[in-house]
Amino acid sequence: MTEKQLNNLQSPLIDLKDINKYFPMGNSKLHVLKNLNLTIHRGEFLMIMGKSGSGKTTLMNIIGFLDQATDGDYIFDDEEASTLSENQKSELRNKHIGFIFQQFFLIQSLNVSQNVELPMVYEGKKKEPLRREIAKEYLHLVGLEGKEYSKTTELSGGQQQRVAIARALVNEPLLIMADEPTGALDSETSRDIMEILAQLNDEGKTIVMVTHDPDMRKYASRVVYMKDGLFLDEEAFLNG
Ligand SMILES: Nc1ncnc2c1ncn2[C@@H]1O[C@H](COP(=O)(O)OP(=O)(O)O)[C@@H](O)[C@H]1O
Ligand SMILES: [Mg+2]
Repeated sequence: MTEKQLNNLQSPLIDLKDINKYFPMGNSKLHVLKNLNLTIHRGEFLMIMGKSGSGKTTLMNIIGFLDQATDGDYIFDDEEASTLSENQKSELRNKHIGFIFQQFFLIQSLNVSQNVELPMVYEGKKKEPLRREIAKEYLHLVGLEGKEYSKTTELSGGQQQRVAIARALVNEPLLIMADEPTGALDSETSRDIMEILAQLNDEGKTIVMVTHDPDMRKYASRVVYMKDGLFLDEEAFLNG
């Protein structure tokens, strides 16, 4: 292992310092993230809990390089976000971050395997037979063996979210980000999805998940509470 790789293992995966985010609103601006500080260590399953409108998705978008903070420092895997070009950010996003959303965001004109292969298509390094083989492995991992050539519209919500999880994993990202991954699912299906995420975390995957559902806390290794763009301690959150 090189010295850089050794350092990498010891440093946090994510370090956010004094992050502010404003959205323009008419003549004024909306202060959505208020001087947030957050360190996420490799191997954590961090849950960000808060009611609708508290700023969770805005924070996730910054962590996932889908949006930029108005000010503050963001370090991901020892890279300072503000020094990266748009191209470098897209590459980093595709290579190192796997996204899971409430609405799955599968492409209906592609079959299940093709959806899972997409991050590898963007990466542009693997030919189709290999992509298909890898997609098959990950579909097996999420319990969807035999569904490779199904249409996504033939699948239940829980199965569609499993496809999205397989898609999030194929490039072996450093981080899995899940924004309300069970928000569109019934409680039994939610439990199945959470057990897959917990299993991935047991195997070492770093996960950041956003939810408004306090029942989900048991799956996390750490919970942070958010309200009106601020982190609160548990007691203040539960009493507020
Ligand atoms: N692109 C945007 N432009 C203006 N306001 C936004 C935008 N995105 C989010 N907001 C506002 O920021 C606040 C936090 O939103 P969001 O991060 O989506 O919260 P959560 O995910 O916790 O429900 C809300 O008041 C929302 O209306
Ligand atoms: Mg949200």
